[in-house]
Amino acid sequence: MPDLTPATLSTGRLLLRWMTEDDIAGHYAVFSDPVVTRYWSGEPWTDIEQARQAIAATMAAYADGSGLRLAIVLRDSAELIGNVTLHHFFEQNRRCEIGYALASKHSGQGHATEALRAVIQYGFDTLDLNRIEADIDPRNAASARVLEKLGFRKEGYMPERWIVSGEFADTVNYGLLRRYWEA
Ligand SMILES: CC(C)(COP(=O)(O)OP(=O)(O)OC[C@H]1O[C@@H](n2cnc3c(N)ncnc32)[C@H](O)[C@@H]1OP(=O)(O)O)[C@@H](O)C(=O)NCCC(=O)NCCS
Repeated sequence: MPDLTPATLSTGRLLLRWMTEDDIAGHYAVFSDPVVTRYWSGEPWTDIEQARQAIAATMAAYADGSGLRLAIVLRDSAELIGNVTLHHFFEQNRRCEIGYALASKHSGQGHATEALRAVIQYGFDTLDLNRIEADIDPRNAASARVLEKLGFRKEGYMPERWIVSGEFADTVNYGLLRRYWEA
């Protein structure tokens, strides 16, 4: 697992930074929205304690190198509008997975693509990754579009991989290689 050191990434409109306990309310706002969790592998949060535990897990993952969740923050207002996570690191194989979520009132403005572009660059340059994987619900067309805009390629399909709210959900697997990114 990588040795993670605090970093803030900057894009035209966004800052991507490590999360702290000050982000509990903002993180809760994102994951308590059923629009955000529609294609997530869990139900919308109903108790702020869930956000408190998630932030504690996020901070523990920084310390042991098992995951890097960055807050997506608007540069203008410092408002937390979502997060992007690199996790499931396999150091020997130089690969990991990526996950992301954006508050619904801030979607449809290119924020996810902008944020992921910066995190992917960081993953290849600083964490020396060779491959980043994503798995998404095939009905999540906006998420698929984000990945495809960034050069991810569709690699596989896994039926009924998740059960969310009693409903089976399939997975489409995507992968991005460093050489696709650099081309
Ligand atoms: C999926 C998500 C990250 C997209 O964030 P976003 O900031 O709106 O994404 P962007 O604006 O960068 O790009 C979205 C793209 O999808 C397109 N899109 C949006 N809804 C679409 C739909 N229903 N069908 C097809 N394309 C769609 C947009 O037009 C845009 O493409 P374009 O730039 O070619 O016009 C955000 O909606 C989200 O967090 N959803 C909930 C959590 C989630 O599903 N996370 C991913 C799970 S792996």
